Amino acid sequence: MTDTVLVTGAFGLVGSATVRALAAAGHRVVATDLDNEANRAKARALPLGVEARWADLTSPTDVQELIVEVAPAAIVHLAAVIAPAIYRVRALARRVNVDATRTLVDTAAAAPRPPRFVHASSNAVYGSRNPHRHPDPVTADTPPRPVELYGGHKLESESYVRNSPLDWVILRLGGVMSTDLSALPLGLDALFFESALPVDGRIHMVDVRDVATAFAAATTADVAGEILLIAGDETHRMRQGDVGSSLAAARGFPGVLPPGRPGNPDSDDDWFITDWMDTTRAQEALRFQHHSWPDMLEEIGAQAGWQRRPARLIAPLARVFVKRLGAYREEPGIYADPWRVLSARLGDTGLDTTQS
Ligand SMILES: NC(=O)c1ccc[n+]([C@@H]2O[C@H](COP(=O)([O-])OP(=O)(O)OC[C@H]3O[C@@H](n4cnc5c(N)ncnc54)[C@H](O)[C@@H]3O)[C@@H](O)[C@H]2O)c1
Repeated sequence: MTDTVLVTGAFGLVGSATVRALAAAGHRVVATDLDNEANRAKARALPLGVEARWADLTSPTDVQELIVEVAPAAIVHLAAVIAPAIYRVRALARRVNVDATRTLVDTAAAAPRPPRFVHASSNAVYGSRNPHRHPDPVTADTPPRPVELYGGHKLESESYVRNSPLDWVILRLGGVMSTDLSALPLGLDALFFESALPVDGRIHMVDVRDVATAFAAATTADVAGEILLIAGDETHRMRQGDVGSSLAAARGFPGVLPPGRPGNPDSDDDWFITDWMDTTRAQEALRFQHHSWPDMLEEIGAQAGWQRRPARLIAPLARVFVKRLGAYREEPGIYADPWRVLSARLGDTGLDTTQS
């Protein structure tokens, strides 16, 4: 297999793993991302034979040069501005998530040999999911109903991809997790974000290595024109409140996350944009589910090794610190109200009304 695959967003969480999976499967890989210090450092550790190219996808000239010079047989399009960072940079996020996707699709479609286009989307397109009102997992046919900026951008870019003349595949991802916790954006915004979400909301996690396997397989599998739902096996079907607490416990900080608020059973909107996903068709076509949630936790624990012991000792102190960051600290009420508190802290989370 020597056809060239171009991966955008190649030095991000999903991109780094996808580049490795494609290279391991024998593809020639061109990894493209923004030119900055952090990405240049990552480029020095690329697998043998993977070429790095710098391009800002919001620049039509950069995109044109990339497509002409690489002439890919397939593009895996991962570059995006994602939540929670997206709410602080609404205008830039639109230029990357929507406008740059259009430029890339149009430029690819005009190539002498138009490539397959594998597009990264998200379960965020389904919008808020109240588990009391939606007992069943989402499927590719569940009507999208984005309620905030990120899901709106993802649905808009999906629809441009679907209406293009390209041979396209769309992968809607669940909550992507890595056993390498240093690869995750775990800053103060992330802690606040996590504390704002209803603890009893449903979320379907997936190991980033399995996501990478899915993207690599989707560059050649018989799935053209399909929307596939990418999430882990049954063990990855979780409640929001269990994700952080089980990760913290695996890392040696049991009980560090204070209990959050449940969602309002009578509200359609005050819930997060995740749910359990029906992965039957995706798994049949792409054979990507290899890492269970308990296996991931065990790996995280083993990596922490001796550090788990001192971590346990400082856990009570860490708990006090994390509690101070809580989204509902000293607020009246019993139910989570995620979009109000997230907008107050991170900037307007609402849908984009701009049309480009
Ligand atoms: N991480 C998740 O849980 C998750 C869930 C659902 C969907 N997704 C989707 O998967 C894809 C990858 O997500 P990720 O978690 O790896 O995100 P990430 O933020 O780790 O990576 C995104 C990459 O895009 C690059 N990028 C941003 N603007 C760019 C520009 N103008 N030009 C070129 N590159 C640019 C960034 O430098 C970064 O390396 C995204 O499309 C995201 O929407 C991710």
